Amino acid sequence: MTSSIPDLPPLILSAGINSTGYSAGSWNSPGRSWNRFLDYSHYRNAAEIAHDGGLDALFLSDHPALQRDNTSRPIHTFDPIVLFASLAAAVPDIGFFLTASTSYNSPYNLARRLASLDHISGGRVVWNAVTSFNPDVASNFGSDPLPEREERYRRGTEFIDVVKKLWRSWDADAEGFPDAGTLWDDTTARRIDHRGEFFSVQGPLNVPIGPQGYPLVAQAGGSVQGIDLAGRHADLVYAPLLSIPAARTFTAEVRAQALAHGRSAGEVKFVPGLVPIIAATRAEARRKHERLNGHDGEASLVAAVVKRLAPALDGLSAHDIVPPERLDPVPGQRGPIGFARSFRDVAAAAPTTLRELARTAEGGHRLVVGTPEDIAADITEWWKSGTVDGFTLQFPVLPDDLQLFVDEVIPLLVRAGVRRPGYVPGTLRDKFGFGYPVERIKSA
Ligand SMILES: Cc1cc2nc3c(=O)[nH]c(=O)nc-3n(C[C@H](O)[C@H](O)[C@H](O)COP(=O)(O)O)c2cc1C
Repeated sequence: MTSSIPDLPPLILSAGINSTGYSAGSWNSPGRSWNRFLDYSHYRNAAEIAHDGGLDALFLSDHPALQRDNTSRPIHTFDPIVLFASLAAAVPDIGFFLTASTSYNSPYNLARRLASLDHISGGRVVWNAVTSFNPDVASNFGSDPLPEREERYRRGTEFIDVVKKLWRSWDADAEGFPDAGTLWDDTTARRIDHRGEFFSVQGPLNVPIGPQGYPLVAQAGGSVQGIDLAGRHADLVYAPLLSIPAARTFTAEVRAQALAHGRSAGEVKFVPGLVPIIAATRAEARRKHERLNGHDGEASLVAAVVKRLAPALDGLSAHDIVPPERLDPVPGQRGPIGFARSFRDVAAAAPTTLRELARTAEGGHRLVVGTPEDIAADITEWWKSGTVDGFTLQFPVLPDDLQLFVDEVIPLLVRAGVRRPGYVPGTLRDKFGFGYPVERIKSA
């Protein structure tokens, strides 16, 4: 069954399954073992819950460095390719939205690993290509200090160009391998002979085109360079979009860049992050939000936001309107532009008090705090408005909040005709409505 809402593509829903959950204190959650992030069955259980709910994909972000805050959950312990390879063998249908850096990998190696996983999973991989902004990652790879954004994105753009050339370099014939006793010939396996600013790669890749051609590409950066990269390469954009007007501005910018790169505006789908904080009543959900952040009330929650965005918000109190220009990126800012920009866009779209801003986002992603009906209504409103194609859900505590979403919110979305139950057959490109990305060579 397809969506009962005409003229709209399927609503894409993915579930983040990093570690013990999205909330910093999730590792220490009552009734749950602190070290479940080291237990494969914890991830498999989360994947199976997501599969029961018919979610489209699992998401893993990645920074190959131990987080500095030793009171916070371990964010990125297992390598996403290793974890997803084991889940692909255990859980059918669901896709794998996998983060890997263009600054700290080599294109041949990553192209091969991702293409391998795409074959093994039957065409279920999305590569979330990031340029890495964490100085500790740079130090772990002998690249201290972190290169400037401009250079990271130049390298990232060339990296993805090379990876895509490699993914297209061995076409194993749509009708099957040639039967003349050769596995490949010069028409099916082609050298790419890439010579660029950062990489020299001969090719072809030793993994042929796969069930969905090759993995989809996602991108999350919100700077001018990030938007350009998204316009050039991204099938899916996973940016922090905190309000519908702000999202419209951002998606229009990315679509304009896609057109500038000779693509069609509709080729890019938007699946921003969303943190649902669900409870039986709104008041309970607000308390849960405060508790998850280690606060005993709203005042301390607001104070923490001021501290995090200092010095931009210094001197403001809870009921003050936040002047958007206070959140403008600082010239020469090395950290991610996308997160700060998303807050500024919300404050610019409508007068927003500091108190409201504190309930707007969690770790850069949009927050929705409320009952299952509130969450379902919010998702439906955004999607029906045509602003986004879906959401990448980040659950505060795993597996509890994922289970709550599957039990309480998914049935509401299905009943409203926004989601179909279960899975349609096919690769992830088929499910998300993307075409096959290459012309296949046909046997003579
Ligand atoms: C929602 C979101 C999720 C991200 N996840 C990761 C991640 O897992 N690993 C990483 O290295 N960077 C991640 N990034 C960083 C971006 O890919 C990008 O490198 C960073 O935002 C700097 O680029 P910008 O200045 O264009 O925003 C994420 C960014 C956003 C907005």
